[in-house]
Amino acid sequence: MSVLAPTQIDDILAQVKKKAFEETANEPEPKLTGEVKWPVTAEIGRGLENAVTNETKVGYVNGAKGWLNYRGYDVFNLSQFSTFEETSYALLFGAMPTAQQLKEFNEKLAANRKIPAKIIEIMKMYPITETHPMISLSIGVSLLSTFDRTTETLTVEAETEVAIKLIAQMATLAAAVARIRSGKEPIEPDKDLSHAANFLYMLNGKKPDKGAERVMDICLVLHADHGMNASTFATMVTNSTLSDMYSSIVTGIGTLKGPLHGGANEQVVYQLEEIGNLDNVEPWYRASREAKKKVMGFGHRVYKSYDPRARILGPLVDIFTADPEIKRLYDIANKLNELVCAELGKEKKIFPNVDFYSGLVYKAMGIEIPMFSVIFAVSRISGWGGRVLEYLKDNRLFRPRAVYTGPMLAEYVPIEKR
Ligand code: SDX
Repeated sequence: MSVLAPTQIDDILAQVKKKAFEETANEPEPKLTGEVKWPVTAEIGRGLENAVTNETKVGYVNGAKGWLNYRGYDVFNLSQFSTFEETSYALLFGAMPTAQQLKEFNEKLAANRKIPAKIIEIMKMYPITETHPMISLSIGVSLLSTFDRTTETLTVEAETEVAIKLIAQMATLAAAVARIRSGKEPIEPDKDLSHAANFLYMLNGKKPDKGAERVMDICLVLHADHGMNASTFATMVTNSTLSDMYSSIVTGIGTLKGPLHGGANEQVVYQLEEIGNLDNVEPWYRASREAKKKVMGFGHRVYKSYDPRARILGPLVDIFTADPEIKRLYDIANKLNELVCAELGKEKKIFPNVDFYSGLVYKAMGIEIPMFSVIFAVSRISGWGGRVLEYLKDNRLFRPRAVYTGPMLAEYVPIEKR
């Protein structure tokens, strides 16, 4: 799998950024920003649409323009100039690190990447090959908490240490799950490799070239945070009860697994394989519209424009099209993208989201499809951690209401008379 040199990848990112800002310059300015005076009035749709949870400085999803920032830095710049480690530091601590701070953060990640051997043993005891890797990941995180006696001290400092440990260990856990599923021995992390390079090394058993490392690092940066998405909200709900970071992250993993959320990246590739060839794209799309089926990898609760992450991930797939299988699926994807944007894009502002191309990048890197949502979690742990910690500083239990439509004072009839 030959990948371009990092400088060639930089050129692609620079072109994508220029095109994105040109195309969206005149889109309306963002909403839901600035000072909040509680209580807030909002017109709330089903599924908590437009509901406001809290004030945040962690990041912002600009749905109208299709822009995304973490701590104010847009993802085009972060993909081009930052790394997953530096981005994770900013998500957790609120600012980009100095060279010394990043050095210490990297040392802490390296010191915590290994996972207890007992966890590997336990992972070999249950039917892991029949179990979705996201379930195995949540088992792994729960097991990590049994080896960490700090779990019960719920201070921001203690929870921050847990978040850093989990950022380090999720990649190791994920790689171990993939290796054990395929009957191979897990590989221990290499202290001299970056997070992205370590993840690929622990997955494949060989150190990646600089291009592959760069592509994986960009994927990890792009998936790290995304406003109040379902899994982030879930982690915050759990932590708002003053439970603990491990339990909150287990909630997040379970939520991200769903095909309407992080699990969509797997479904997209199954969908492309089901379409099978270019000639069948239109008939397949017509049939899915007829059947009112959702096209996986499209649509978003907030973006009513092209997801900036899809703008970057699409050209990254192109890097791998020397592989005929990737070229075949990529051509089908682009044809489907064209059809959906021309119709659903116009009718309902439905465009590609982050999941549309991400799976093709992972497939091109030799990763099995059920692992795709796990990679999402390996990255999103940083956004989950950043937002859980931010909310913990001024915590209030999340407790919404449901609208009751049942009887008020039903008469109790003894069972013999029913
Ligand atoms: C992620 O929230 C985040 O930020 C998530 C995420 C992150 O980084 O955390 O961005 C990651 O989860 C991306 C989304 C991945 N999911 C998919 O690709 C699954 C397919 N997409 C859809 O299921 C849907 O678009 C959602 C779930 C993503 C959003 O759905 P909403 O906001 O609840 O919208 P809806 O289901 O109410 O649909 C509104 C209309 C409906 O048509 P009508 O009934 O009004 O005629 O749009 C249609 C829907 O049928 N529609 C689609 C569609 N998505 C919405 N029609 C066809 N294909 C689709 N994909």
